[in-house]
Amino acid sequence: MKIRKVVIPVAGWGTRSLPATKNIPKEMLPVYNKPGVQYVVEEAIRSGIQDIVFITNRDKNVIEDHFDYNLQLEGVLERAGKLEQLAQIRQVAELANCISIRQKKQLGLGHAVLCAKDVVCADDAFAIMVGDDLLFGMNPGVQQLLDVARSERLPVIGVMEVPQEKVNRYGIISGEEVSPGIYRVNKLVEKPPVSEAPSRLAIIGRYVLTPEIFGHLEKVQPGHGGEIQLTDALQGQADGRGLLAVKIRGMRFDVGDWAEYLTANIYFALQDEELRYDLIGHLKPLLPWA
Ligand code: G1P
Repeated sequence: MKIRKVVIPVAGWGTRSLPATKNIPKEMLPVYNKPGVQYVVEEAIRSGIQDIVFITNRDKNVIEDHFDYNLQLEGVLERAGKLEQLAQIRQVAELANCISIRQKKQLGLGHAVLCAKDVVCADDAFAIMVGDDLLFGMNPGVQQLLDVARSERLPVIGVMEVPQEKVNRYGIISGEEVSPGIYRVNKLVEKPPVSEAPSRLAIIGRYVLTPEIFGHLEKVQPGHGGEIQLTDALQGQADGRGLLAVKIRGMRFDVGDWAEYLTANIYFALQDEELRYDLIGHLKPLLPWA
């Protein structure tokens, strides 16, 4: 199973992060010293994926620009002898091949994925990564799905257990655990009421799918929130050839949630040895009870 491409939908309005996202795409909000979307692209690259397919809208050009050269800024840094920063910004431009597709109407995650059909339909399989979910661990999140998709020759989605009171924020699955942490999915519900969730296993924004999904997406009717839901199309996949879910190991931050976004900033800043002790020094007086 060859996988070269990842679809990253970035056309959402970012309403959870307003007013910060009034004119800045939510994917460009910094998490420590990089925009959030860069962590997602880096996870894809570390998983061996080279081509990034952004599903964008008219206000998101700045995302493509971030992954391109900025010759003017490079010139400024070069003349100023700021060679470390120069290397840093060039390296971002050289991370990946980027392809952009406009989602002209925001009709949901399923619709965004359908926009990529012509670009990925000739591939054996492709990944989807939702930019709100930043995952960290020894093994990149999407790599954990790729390993299972390759060995089982089935589409795979990433899940994590969430507290009962938060199930209504996610697609929730139920299934039979066929080996530790791997489930054969039989039911998926998008954002169920807390009392109706079939489990606490929530879909985290990582998927490895085959072009079969497009047939299911073309058939689904608008679902939760009146949107074309990827989760509903995945039910067709589960009922047909089959679908696996893998419990992702690692840490996850939902950067559309302010508490998690701010925690992610602190987490990454703490990894930077030059900043760590300074940051702890600034935080301590804010947490006198800790
Ligand atoms: C989307 C999916 C949902 C999934 C979530 C993960 O929802 O529709 O099934 O649990 O991503 O982040 P969204 O957060 O885009 O509303």
